Amino acid sequence: MNRYKKRVALDPEAARYIVDADLTLAVSERRQNIPITHRLPVDFNSLFGNTRPVEIEVGFGTGTFLAESSKLHPEKNFLGIEITKKMAFLTANRLLKEKTPNARLVLADASLFFKAKVPDCSVELIHVYFPDPWVKKRHHKRRIMNRAFLKEAFRALVPGGRVNFFTDHRDYFNYFLEEKAAFGLFKDDAAMGACVPTAYERKWTGQGREIYRAVLKKSL
Ligand SMILES: C[S@@+](CC[C@H](N)C(=O)[O-])C[C@H]1O[C@@H](n2cnc3c(N)ncnc32)[C@H](O)[C@@H]1O
Repeated sequence: MNRYKKRVALDPEAARYIVDADLTLAVSERRQNIPITHRLPVDFNSLFGNTRPVEIEVGFGTGTFLAESSKLHPEKNFLGIEITKKMAFLTANRLLKEKTPNARLVLADASLFFKAKVPDCSVELIHVYFPDPWVKKRHHKRRIMNRAFLKEAFRALVPGGRVNFFTDHRDYFNYFLEEKAAFGLFKDDAAMGACVPTAYERKWTGQGREIYRAVLKKSL
């Protein structure tokens, strides 16, 4: 059986890596996907206990990027946002095993979470890697990389902050280019920093698939 089809039990100690959508309580199985109805921005300094730069990964899946990047960069803080409980549990268990001090996870819809919780000019880098492509036309509205999300990302980034977006899906990439043009404020950034490959990146490059990459910069 595919290991992701199995139920994943959250190690009680790993629960401390998962912050509730309202960022006051550790998440429990009974309190999932709490609707975020009012804006009460996160205080990243108190969440991480320091003032280091914050990077956010949207849709972290099995947590490969978060676990490895947070280890490589103890000088930064990493917040992962994931909509699927199983992935959040799996990644929290992984962070516990690695004894990662500088990563936290939120179980929420990233577009809602950005809108409701992420303060203005607070994030250095937003990572969006291989988001679900929602291939049917009637499902395109579910794609995360749309102009509404780009607006929230732009607001949340510090000046000079960046969004990295990678996909193996050419149609999604074209859709993203149209949404980016419609939003209009981001500049393309040719400088792609070294980046830990995610589980999907490893899988698709292993199969020789083409990967489409964009780096957007908030330059004022
Ligand atoms: C195709 S997987 C890619 C996982 C990982 N980024 C990688 O490259 O290996 C997409 C992930 O995004 C999550 N996801 C989908 N929509 C989301 C949303 N609105 N907010 C947060 N996570 C979301 C899915 O549950 C899934 O884990």
